[in-house]
Amino acid sequence: MPADILLLALKAAASRVESALERALPAEPASSPLARLVEAMRYAALGPGKRVRPFLVYATGELTGTEATVLDAPACALELIHAYSLVHDDLPAIDDDDLRRGRPTCHRAFDEATAILVGDALQARAFELLAKAPGLTAETRLTMIATLARAAGHQGMVGGQAIDLAAVGQQRTLTELEQMHRLKTGALIETSVIFGALAGQANEAMRDALTRYARAIGLAFQVRDDILDVTANSQTLGKTQGKDAARDKPTYVSLLGLDPAQALAKELCDEALAALDGLPRAEPLRLLARYIVERPA
Ligand code: IPE
Ligand code: IPE
Ligand code: MG
Ligand code: MG
Ligand code: MG
Repeated sequence: MPADILLLALKAAASRVESALERALPAEPASSPLARLVEAMRYAALGPGKRVRPFLVYATGELTGTEATVLDAPACALELIHAYSLVHDDLPAIDDDDLRRGRPTCHRAFDEATAILVGDALQARAFELLAKAPGLTAETRLTMIATLARAAGHQGMVGGQAIDLAAVGQQRTLTELEQMHRLKTGALIETSVIFGALAGQANEAMRDALTRYARAIGLAFQVRDDILDVTANSQTLGKTQGKDAARDKPTYVSLLGLDPAQALAKELCDEALAALDGLPRAEPLRLLARYIVERPA
């Protein structure tokens, strides 16, 4: 599977999860009192994202022999939580960003109160989808709900966001930065891989290998995000370049410098590839690991 095939595979996963998201978030009639809220939810969830987390659910699920139809609800749930995290991340009280996925942020296109409610509602919808996910046993659904709840909450993404806010204008050690990144970004990426493994009832050895892979790419993803914040431009990124420095946030670039940060991303990629050694049908995951540390946006 050469690298340009990965881009096609990413596109296929994106269009698959986008259809599922459409079904999960149907528009309300204009006369409905919920029309504006649902329009804003659709704006946030259906905007042009890379859909890396759904890709991971599908690719890992495929590796464990799971039908794509069974993976739609878990993939959607991950993307809904991720979309909610972006809406809240962009709010004036958090990163105060105006641009997301190449368009005005949710609170700019609508208003701040609506954006807060959009996040709340997308999060709730994610758990509803998992609870009702077809083709999975009740036990698997429950494990997925518990896993996602932990990864999204104070022991995961939200905890990482709190640490990120407290770090503005502060010095942080590499260990502290790593913990912040593993929580705010790594936790949901790890969960995407774990969902594929859970859906396919992977054995312990496979689960261990996939977990090691996921931890490495989860951290690498945010290291590369820190790098792109410095090296890319707003148009390519679809979000405001230079935000981290402007808000005086400790990042891998501010702590290590650009080249060492990219070297670390590469090391994490190698770690992820080593974890997959000997696993059959893991080529898409290998290509994704390389993509994560080289991606242009
Ligand atoms: C951006 O995530 C926020 C981080 C966790 C770094 P993505 O880079 O996956 O954003 P989209 O979904 O493609 O817009
Ligand atoms: C975001 O980190 C992590 C989230 C939980 C959304 P950033 O604040 O660096 O993400 P971007 O750069 O705004 O996408
Ligand atoms: Mg942020
Ligand atoms: Mg941000
Ligand atoms: Mg960033």
